[in-house]
Formats: sequence, C-alpha cells, structure tokens
Amino acid sequence: MVLVDLYPQIFKRKSIRNYDLTPLDSVTLEKVVEQINSLEPLYDDIKVELKIISQNDVNQRMMKKAPHYIVVLSENKEGYKTNVGFMLQQLDLFFSASGLGSCWQGIPKPKKKVLESDLEFVILMAFGRANEQLHRTSNLEFKRKPLSKISDVEVGGELGESLEAARLAPSATNSQPWFFKGDIHMLHAYVVKPNILRAIMLKRYILIDMGIALYHLKLAAEHFGKTNRIIFDETGSKSSPSGYEYVASLKID
Ligand SMILES: Cc1cc2nc3c(=O)[nH]c(=O)nc-3n(C[C@H](O)[C@H](O)[C@H](O)COP(=O)(O)O)c2cc1C
Repeated sequence: MVLVDLYPQIFKRKSIRNYDLTPLDSVTLEKVVEQINSLEPLYDDIKVELKIISQNDVNQRMMKKAPHYIVVLSENKEGYKTNVGFMLQQLDLFFSASGLGSCWQGIPKPKKKVLESDLEFVILMAFGRANEQLHRTSNLEFKRKPLSKISDVEVGGELGESLEAARLAPSATNSQPWFFKGDIHMLHAYVVKPNILRAIMLKRYILIDMGIALYHLKLAAEHFGKTNRIIFDETGSKSSPSGYEYVASLKID
C-alpha cells in the first residue's frame, strides 16, 4: 500500500460530480495505477480487475462527465460485491487524500470493448480534478442517519468513533442499508432486506455499500492501533435484527 493515512479522509470526503475534463498528467495517473496495484482485498480468493478508462469509453447516461473512470470487473462468486466495495473505497479515500475528486458511478456503463473479459462488470468510479469544493469541513455536512438508527451498540469512546466512521460511508442513493451490533471485541454487520419496490435498484448495490462501510470500520480499528480481521461469525450470523441479513463481522483484538 502506498503509505497515506486514509482515515482522516472519512470525515471530509464527498462525491464529486463536476470535473475539469482535462486529462490528468501521466505521473499522477501512474500513482493511481500504483495504488490500484496495492489495494487490499476483503476476500483474496476472488479475481478482480481494475482498469483506468477515459471518458470516451463510458456511456454517461445523463450523468456529468469525468476525465477518467476506474472500471471494476470481478469473478461472480460469494462475497464479490462486498469485496469490490471494500477495495474501491480505498481508492475513493486515496483520491480525496491526493487532492482529486471521485464518485462511485452505478448508472453510467462502459462501452462494450472495455468489457471484453471473462469477469463480470460490477461498477465504475469517476475521478479527476474537482471543479467544486473537494472536501467537507464538518460532520454536519454529511446527510446521514443518526447512529441510533444504524446500531444498537452502547456507543462511546473508540467504539463510538469507529461506528461514526461507518455511519459516514457513502452508499448508492445514500440509502445507508447497514446495521451494526456487538461490542468493542466484535462488531457484526448486517444489510437491510429491501422490500419488493426498492429491491431491483437496491439489490444491485447494497452489498457494495456494505463493503464500503466495512472498510471504514477496519480503518477506524487500525487508527486506534487494534489488530483486526473480517470474519464469518456463527453467533453474529444467527442474531440478525428483523429485516436485516448478516454479512460479516469485524473481530477486534
Ligand atoms: C454503489 C454506489 C453507486 C453510486 N452511483 C451513483 C451514480 O450513478 N451517480 C451519482 O451521481 N452518484 C452515485 N453514487 C454516490 C452516492 O449518491 C453518494 O455516495 C451518496 O449520496 C452520499 O453522498 P456523499 O458521497 O457525497 O457523501 C453512488 C454511490 C455508491 C456507493
């Protein structure tokens, strides 16, 4: 991993939708490639391919253009969407730390020639120089549910701050489909079971969203100097709150 502390970016990043369309210089793009090559997977047995493509390789579908996009292709295997969320969020925070804007893009689609691969297209991320303010300056600028709506954990101290990091995570249509249970040693993560009306749209993205929040949780644990692992936990899997499904747990030592 290129050594940048990504944790502080959680509290100031935002989706950038207005870009200077001038392509970035080759040195900057090389740094992005270097970062892509050092991403940490959540599940290391899933094949993932990330490529930088240009605005001409994307059908924008009404979305504003960006000079560059990252296209993510993955093996379709249990956990693959959560894995993609976990990996690509590392880049979202890296862009923020590097003075560049980025935005997850579920709606635009790459052109066919980009998709010639055995792997499945999952999602795009736009990036480039921002033509708007890059960072938020206060937590109050985040439109998010209160902690009490996404967790039943008695919060305070490091655990409260870690959940705050998850609370501020970006999600498709800002749906924030997550719920967290547990304590300072183990946090269990659940995603909402969407009702039929919202199912088609949400289902495509909620596991990606969960991967994003899990990465924020992991960064927070690291920030507090805790050894941690994301695991499947039997107890966590058997205690889903009503209306939610179990995804994974963060074991904190
Ligand atoms: C999986 C995913 C897909 C997204 N797709 C789009 C998109 O197609 N277009 C867009 O403008 N924003 C998209 N977003 C950005 C969200 O709308 C944004 O993260 C959310 O509203 C929270 O705002 P923030 O990122 O500025 O904190 C997407 C976000 C995620 C995580």
